[in-house]
Amino acid sequence: MAHVSDLIATDIEAYLHQHEQKSLLRFITCGSVDDGKSTLIGRLLYDSKMIFEDQLAALEADSKKMGTQGQNIDFALLVDGLAAEREQGITIDVAYRFFSTDRRKFIVADTPGHEQYTRNMITGASTAELAVILIDARRGVLTQTKRHSYLVSLIGIKNVVLAINKMDLVNYSKEVFDRILGDYTAFAANLDIDKIVPIPISALAGDNITEPSGNTPWYRGPTLMHHLETVEVAHRSREASFRLPVQWVNRPNLDFRGFSGMVAGGTVHAGDLVKIMPSARQSRVARVLIDGDLPYATVGQSITVTLEDEVDCSRGDVICGADDPAEVSDQLETTIVWMHESPMLPGRSYLLKLGTKTVSASVTTLKHKINVNTLEEVPGRELDLNEIGVCNISLDRAVAFDPYELNRETGGFILIDRLSNDTVGAGLIHFALRRAQNIHWQAVDVTPISRAAQKGQRAAVLWFTGLSGAGKSTIANLVEKKLFALGRHTTMLDGDNVRHGLNKDLGFTEEDRVENIRRVAEVAKLMVDAGLIVLVSFISPFRGERQMARDLLPDGSFLEVYVDAPLAVAETRDPKGLYKKARRGEIKHFTGIDSPYEAPETPELHIETAKLTAEDAAERIVAALEERGFLHGAQV
Ligand code: ADX
Repeated sequence: MAHVSDLIATDIEAYLHQHEQKSLLRFITCGSVDDGKSTLIGRLLYDSKMIFEDQLAALEADSKKMGTQGQNIDFALLVDGLAAEREQGITIDVAYRFFSTDRRKFIVADTPGHEQYTRNMITGASTAELAVILIDARRGVLTQTKRHSYLVSLIGIKNVVLAINKMDLVNYSKEVFDRILGDYTAFAANLDIDKIVPIPISALAGDNITEPSGNTPWYRGPTLMHHLETVEVAHRSREASFRLPVQWVNRPNLDFRGFSGMVAGGTVHAGDLVKIMPSARQSRVARVLIDGDLPYATVGQSITVTLEDEVDCSRGDVICGADDPAEVSDQLETTIVWMHESPMLPGRSYLLKLGTKTVSASVTTLKHKINVNTLEEVPGRELDLNEIGVCNISLDRAVAFDPYELNRETGGFILIDRLSNDTVGAGLIHFALRRAQNIHWQAVDVTPISRAAQKGQRAAVLWFTGLSGAGKSTIANLVEKKLFALGRHTTMLDGDNVRHGLNKDLGFTEEDRVENIRRVAEVAKLMVDAGLIVLVSFISPFRGERQMARDLLPDGSFLEVYVDAPLAVAETRDPKGLYKKARRGEIKHFTGIDSPYEAPETPELHIETAKLTAEDAAERIVAALEERGFLHGAQV
């Protein structure tokens, strides 16, 4: 029942002790602006007396001023904290609130209901154990009810309360309640939800919130508060196998080497046998420490462990129970929720953060998108803001992980834009792709360095980027002639030419250009492995992909050559007449006209073709190669 705070005044120690012993339930509320969600949360807070008196006074005053409930308290005002929300009458961000009763403590995430805010809901739901899905009894199961329920099940919440609200407006009708419950159960049969508890309520009038309502004599179930106080939720992460993603290696002096982080699964005891993933090296836990030594530690605690052996273990590794270690792979099937205005493009390189580990990742295949309103699988080439898709992803190195359904912490990741550092997506791991397990890196005896040394050079990529007509191909061609004359071994990858063969299936949309550059970067890498000096001449308009190419190649071997001509100059040259066509609207997505060009910020070489002849430019580039030592072989 509602929280009685007398102890706070009489015996604060006893109160705090009692408080500490209570279990914690994290839940989320989902519903639309009009379903009465804020009113419901406001009432829960009010009835549990977790509102301070000054807030209460302000609430009463506000209710009279701007509330929608006449002289009564408008509970929604309590929750709709943001000024903007009050003005617009909608809830726009995730708000976490704490309240408690005699039996339990609660953290409720109040998430917005309208479509464009899927990302907020995912954020709010990610730690919740239960979801309260609100339905307006007059309107029944709506598309957005289905969307919320799908997201709840996707996130792994197994307990749902179906709060059928505004029963006072349908005369507390059992028929209405039964019909809505029937509709909902039919839909939810396709979802992965273990338990649905339907409760007829009126958040406004208080029916079945804390006290059983006389208005619904046909209802024999619990009140909402009673259910929240007593529902048993499985703490999967506690039952999971031991996982400690290493946040940092704690080495204050030569005698102590500890591994610190927050336990993301299971329990660890001093003496336990552990494996460090991905290397799978084995050792035994010597000590478990928080402030001092502890016999054991469990999920959610920030700890340091020491190991009996001097094994390699660094930030990003996961210390696991030896009998059931995390899996390891660099190719995964996942579900990705896109959270950014610029779409997810397969082939584009993002940073992927999984626990304490950050790696490069790209989507190799968007298998299908999910229409969250109907649960249908739909084909797609990219994911837009708030869209969800099943994607195969490829990482630049193998990571330790668990399937999300076994552990949310070690199975959930975020994707980050490499340039802006924005979080652009969130993902859940399904499983490792089998093909990755069956393909192994083949060791070779003749190395890239020896191949280049045999040719008397060091391998490199000269990456020419710039507008169409800036002079890339002309200059690259002259550079290659000069290198050839010097007896150096080169090859040329030119946009127009590669687009006749390897990339003839690609056009000029953003996603096709990303794929164009990804393939060319991979080919350039193979050529560098062969020991060649590779001249790559592509508009390559996006910084992100040029960075991806740079990251793919050995350090120091990527030289970005910005062939810089003002648009007006390139357009006057117009060697292929393409600018004219683009201006007439006959070519779409033409770089500089209706598709962007992102100039390099710190290229190794900046060639301004309006000021320099092509011959001079080529000479400067060859001189730069000479200066940097590419034209002489390394000692092998
Ligand atoms: S990139 O943007 O994907 O790097 P790429 O260098 O391969 O472009 O191809 C550019 C060449 O394709 C140009 O030199 C031009 O001849 C031709 N082209 C045809 N359509 C377009 C377009 N819409 N935008 C730019 N170039 C185009």
